[in-house]
Amino acid sequence: MDLVIKKAHMDVLADIQIIEKECFGKEMYSLDLITRDYNNELCSLFVGVVDGKIIGYIDVMLIGNEAELIRIAVLPQYQGKGLGTKMLKLAYEYLSDDISKMFLEVSATNNRAINMYQSFGFTVISRRNKYYADGSDAIIMEYQNNTN
Ligand SMILES: CC(C)(COP(=O)(O)OP(=O)(O)OC[C@H]1O[C@@H](n2cnc3c(N)ncnc32)[C@H](O)[C@@H]1OP(=O)(O)O)[C@@H](O)C(=O)NCCC(=O)NCCS
Repeated sequence: MDLVIKKAHMDVLADIQIIEKECFGKEMYSLDLITRDYNNELCSLFVGVVDGKIIGYIDVMLIGNEAELIRIAVLPQYQGKGLGTKMLKLAYEYLSDDISKMFLEVSATNNRAINMYQSFGFTVISRRNKYYADGSDAIIMEYQNNTN
């Protein structure tokens, strides 16, 4: 599947909210929260597009040259086809000149996301016990950009 990523514009925020709803259910971000990140100059939002359809999105916050992967999500019917990995790579390439390190936080129960982050090159740097509302631990991961 051919995937392109595009910088998000105002007119795709409602599509992003639908992705949030389908991927995170009651943990979803509201349209207000998505709009807040969109308007935050530290955040970069990208949408992943396949055959003209928005199938996922990614939100990266950059403070100085340290990035935080705030969110990445692919619509359920498009998951497991390599699109999340491609989206992460393309967004990273877009920003990589400005990034020396990238961090993220993920539930220890989210095996698919953890596999994707590890194959990208993230390593586990710490763990927070019972961090999430469902009682699961949070895993903190880091990626080093060796070229910056
Ligand atoms: C996490 C997510 C973005 C990954 O996107 P994706 O398109 O499904 O992922 P990919 O198809 O690129 O696969 C990523 C890795 O997971 C592995 N994988 C695929 N299905 C899996 C499964 N059911 N269980 C565990 N690992 C799985 C793949 O093998 C791949 O690893 P590899 O590169 O070593 O082969 C997507 O599943 C998603 O939106 N999940 C819900 C939202 C979420 O949890 N976001 C992350 C926290 S913000």
